[in-house]
Amino acid sequence: MWCFRRVGICLVLRKGRRVIVTTLLSAILAAGESIPHKCDGKAQCGSCHIFIQEGRKTLPRIQKLENEKLDTLVGVSSKSRLACQTLMGEEPVTIELLSFV
Ligand code: FES
Repeated sequence: MWCFRRVGICLVLRKGRRVIVTTLLSAILAAGESIPHKCDGKAQCGSCHIFIQEGRKTLPRIQKLENEKLDTLVGVSSKSRLACQTLMGEEPVTIELLSFV
């Protein structure tokens, strides 16, 4: 098996396709969902703003770059994260893709 835990989490998709995801953005995209990510994960645009509805305490803490960008966004709450900056945790999380971004 080519998936290593240190790199990310291995998702096995339909038809046996495997992808390694490291951030929530990569997991969302791998799942076939649409989410804006205008700056390609550089924490510059804020377009990947999501709400973590369940399990947010199991995720790695917000880092300075993410926190600084979140401070500039409208509609931020305690559930807010940038999908591109949020590394996968070890527990399942429930996220809400926002429609106002
Ligand atoms: S993709 Fe731009 S901040 Fe996440």
